[in-house]
Amino acid sequence: MRTPFMCANWKMHKTVEEAVEMAKEFKELVADVDDVEAGICAPAIDLYPLNEVLADTNVKLGSENMYYKESGAYTGELSPAMIKSVGCEYAIIGHSERREIFGEDDQLLNLKLKTAFANDIKPILCIGEKLAEREAGEHFARVKFQLEADLSGIEAEDVKDMVLAYEPLWAIGTGESATPEQAEEIIKFIRETVAKMYDEETAEAIRIQYGGSVKPWNVEEIMAQPNIDGALVGSASLEAESFSKIVKFK
Ligand code: G3P
Repeated sequence: MRTPFMCANWKMHKTVEEAVEMAKEFKELVADVDDVEAGICAPAIDLYPLNEVLADTNVKLGSENMYYKESGAYTGELSPAMIKSVGCEYAIIGHSERREIFGEDDQLLNLKLKTAFANDIKPILCIGEKLAEREAGEHFARVKFQLEADLSGIEAEDVKDMVLAYEPLWAIGTGESATPEQAEEIIKFIRETVAKMYDEETAEAIRIQYGGSVKPWNVEEIMAQPNIDGALVGSASLEAESFSKIVKFK
């Protein structure tokens, strides 16, 4: 069965000092957890020191972004080799903030995914609809479009190993989470879409997280849904005790 995966997305928060302090506290709080995978996706500046703190622990490390080129004149970007050199197993690709604020489109995200797979980095691909799309009943079509565009040309073997995060934009940072039923309904649809694009085996293997105002007090009911395999957590992951409660949701 799929191992639940609880992953922090710190976004543009935490200086090196703050990151190290939080990671030291967090690793102690989750040291006894062996049936849930825990990860932290952190700002680039924090990755090197976090790797030192989290080496030989059960906490995985990820980048919040990654460019699709291996190296070159791309000021301000991070290559796959760079993030691997600081211990990243994961990279978030296509977070809605990257899509909306920084204009990343599905064609670029498809290239980023291909580069991630070619370099043994597991992508956490974010998909999800805006409020207007949900109100217009277009949320299923929206995530289907994103899946088909972002995964175009990618093999089932790679897809099995990656992570999808369904994050409805209207639930991010608003304190208003999707209901567990709403999240389950669309995540089940995402899994069925993967089955149609690939096969049942791939759809059963891929882990699909929910993201959007996940908190210690709502994580248990979200995780009780059969198709939800974890959470991508923003603000509630910034503090060690709060995030450790999410990891220890059972
Ligand atoms: O990637 C996680 C995220 O977008 C959700 O943020 O603060 O609503 O948990 P938050």
